[in-house]
Order: sequence, then structure tokens, then C-alpha cells
Amino acid sequence: MIRIETERMTLREMNLQDEKRLMEIFSDPIAMQYYTSTKTKEEAQKWINWNIKNYENYGVGLWICELKETGTFVGQCGIVPQMVDGKNEMEIGYLFVRNYWHRGLATEAALAVRDFGWKKLQLSRLISMIYERNIPSIKVAERIGMSLDKETLIKDRPTLIYSIEV
Ligand SMILES: CC(C)(COP(=O)(O)OP(=O)(O)OC[C@H]1O[C@@H](n2cnc3c(N)ncnc32)[C@H](O)[C@@H]1OP(=O)(O)O)[C@@H](O)C(=O)NCCC(=O)NCCS
Repeated sequence: MIRIETERMTLREMNLQDEKRLMEIFSDPIAMQYYTSTKTKEEAQKWINWNIKNYENYGVGLWICELKETGTFVGQCGIVPQMVDGKNEMEIGYLFVRNYWHRGLATEAALAVRDFGWKKLQLSRLISMIYERNIPSIKVAERIGMSLDKETLIKDRPTLIYSIEV
């Protein structure tokens, strides 16, 4: 079972009891503005099951980020297998609760996940798939050392592929 410690957070695997926590992000139209829509509780359950499958099949997935001091749920960050233009890629994903934006938490989690990818998983390349207008997400990608690789269409939407290699 994966557990990652950062200065302010613990990252742990999600389970079906996390639905209510995840809904703090999925039901927020502002947090979800660059996704196709907000998500229902049923979709949150599907999301959790998808991550549990990824833990089992690939040893990666999105992890729950909780503050060490209080145990408060603040977001999710992790590594997700993706197919981009016919190529298998590993993506760093991050979605945080709006109350916890602008504190550097997403960057702190993404840095720890990036280093976990290098050191524990021996990955040599990580990407981020970012809808072109999602400036906060672009800034996180840049803060963890990624740069723009290319622009492509993902599900008919113009998407920027940021990447970093070791
Ligand atoms: C993408 C997302 C995670 C970015 O969150 P964020 O809070 O902007 O990112 P960080 O946690 O790294 O915080 C950085 C900001 O906090 C500020 N900050 C405050 N204290 C800080 C600290 N100790 N360390 C670093 N930055 C700090 C920075 O100046 C920066 O502000 P700025 O963007 O105005 O320059 C957030 O917008 C989100 O969850 N969006 C919805 C889901 C989503 O779209 N995910 C991406 C899909 S591709």
C-alpha cells in the first residue's frame, strides 16, 4: 500500500469511503470548469473504482492528500496511465478542494509524486494533459519542472501536453 509524505501532507490510496471527500471537488462547478462537467456520487464511485484498478494493475493512481496536522482532506494527486496519440504515457494529475487553493499544496504534492515516479517507479518520463485555458494547472506543471511538449486533441478538446524527462 502506497503512502507518500510531504512537508504538510500525507498521500494515501483512496477507497470507497472517500466518496464524500471527493465530492467536495467533483460537485464544485468552479473546480470542475475545465472538465466536461461536475460529477455525481455515482460517477465519484466509478472514479474510485478506476483508481483502485490502477493501483492493482499498474501500482499507481490518484492518491488522497490529507493535511498532517488535522487529517483534513485537501485534494488528490497521483500518477495515471494514459494513451496520448497512440503512445502509453504516465500522467501526474492534481485536483484540489477550492478552499485549499493558493497555498502551494498542489505543487508540494505534485513534486513528491514526481520524485516518487523517478525513484520508486523508475519512470523516465511524466506528462500532464492540460486543457489550454487551465492556467493554474499550467503553473503547477511549470513549477514541478515540466515544459510544453505539444498540443493535441483529447476527446475533441485542444489539450496541452506538458512533460519532464530524466
Ligand atoms: C490546478 C490546481 C490544483 C492548482 O491549485 P493552486 O492552488 O493554484 O496551486 P498550488 O497549490 O501550487 O498553489 C500555487 C499558488 O499558491 C501561492 N502560494 C502560497 N503559498 C505558497 C507556498 N507555500 N508554496 C508555493 N506556492 C504558494 C502561489 O503564489 C501560487 O499562487 P498563483 O498561482 O496565484 O501564483 C487547482 O486550480 C485545481 O484543483 N483545479 C481544479 C482541478 C483541475 O483543473 N486540475 C488540473 C487538471 S489538468
